[in-house]
Amino acid sequence: MKTKIIVTGGCGYIGSHTAIELIENDFDVVILDDLSNSTEKTISRIHKITGVTPTFVQVDLKDPVATFKVFETHKDAAGVIHFAAHKAVGESVQKPLMYYKNNFYSLLNTLEAQSVHGINNFIFSSSATVYGTPNTLPITENNETQRPFSPYGNTKKIAEEILDDFTKSNKSFSAISLRYFNPIGAHESGAIGELPNGIPNNLMPYITQTAAGVREKLMVYGNDYPTKDGTPIRDYIHVVDLAKAHVIAIKRLLNNKQETPLEFFNLGTGLGYSVLDVIKSFESVTNSKLNYEITERRDGDVPQLYASTDLAKEKLGWSADRKLNDMISSSWNWEQNLRSETK
Ligand code: NAD
Ligand code: UD1
Repeated sequence: MKTKIIVTGGCGYIGSHTAIELIENDFDVVILDDLSNSTEKTISRIHKITGVTPTFVQVDLKDPVATFKVFETHKDAAGVIHFAAHKAVGESVQKPLMYYKNNFYSLLNTLEAQSVHGINNFIFSSSATVYGTPNTLPITENNETQRPFSPYGNTKKIAEEILDDFTKSNKSFSAISLRYFNPIGAHESGAIGELPNGIPNNLMPYITQTAAGVREKLMVYGNDYPTKDGTPIRDYIHVVDLAKAHVIAIKRLLNNKQETPLEFFNLGTGLGYSVLDVIKSFESVTNSKLNYEITERRDGDVPQLYASTDLAKEKLGWSADRKLNDMISSSWNWEQNLRSETK
């Protein structure tokens, strides 16, 4: 019998890549998603890549009754990887209550429903945003967390505090919070990738949409930061490397290898690239010129964020393999496939 893992938000960008890695590691995958930011087509795309169709249940995890019902059906699961959340930073500033409601109700309902059935292993999607503006670089897991700039970011920080309280009160329950740096890229098949809703906020989908002619021009938000070329530095990580880390993290919990009931790991490459570095790499990988313009800084951007990857290396035995060029070429491949599909 295969070990069953519930993947909330598994039709989304990172969840779908993780579902593939789980299937390839012989897990039985159950995806719970309300499709608020994704499509059911993801399920057939996962089948196309792996030859396996994961179980899919369309459910809004804000709804406690529906959530309890689905966990009753899948009470033989061994763990949960919780991706389901709203994630658009700008939208969260406009609609904070929507973000607090969705991200907390779905977290709390999931925790309650799974623990009723003794499903005591939980992986959480956190973000480097919990470090705010770091005082020291690279950022280690011991860096102090700060109140993030946005309500979205704050849902991640508070969720980690909720997990801290919950793992202290429920001695059988273990959780790992994975703090992602900047996930980009797509599966090498080109069959799945990020599906930004409307105008992208993030750099990579904005670049690929500009190159594809969907957007006229990329705005580079400021070149007066204290960095080598004045543009902000980030730690971009390939989504497939990120997905693989989730499989390792859930196995760690299933094998009782965790050292504390709640552990935190940074998921990044440890390398920082500026916005102009990314643009130059994109131009060189695709052998094209990108239309861009330097403009004002964006509120909430910090000059530099990159991870110390030591802890993940030491405790998880995980490090990212894929380079910036792989991230860019796979993002571009996905964008082109997406455009040919929507024609
Ligand atoms: P995504 O929007 O592609 O995936 C999230 C999925 O959750 C979507 O399929 C959406 O339909 C689903 N969902 C949302 N609310 C739900 C609800 N109430 N019930 C059921 N399903 C619901 O986002 P992603 O980029 O794959 O991000 C996954 C997780 O990682 C999120 O928690 C996000 O905050 C976190 N994260 C993402 C990034 C990033 O850059 N993508 C960075 C740091 C953290
Ligand atoms: C953003 C969020 C962060 C979230 C992460 C993943 C903010 C302030 N931060 O991180 O909370 O966890 O996404 O969803 O929104 N850039 C441009 N032009 C663009 C888009 C981006 O110049 O059109 C620049 C930004 O100024 C930044 C870099 O590109 O320096 C990366 O931006 P982005 O991809 O949005 O990621 P973060 O801001 O690091």
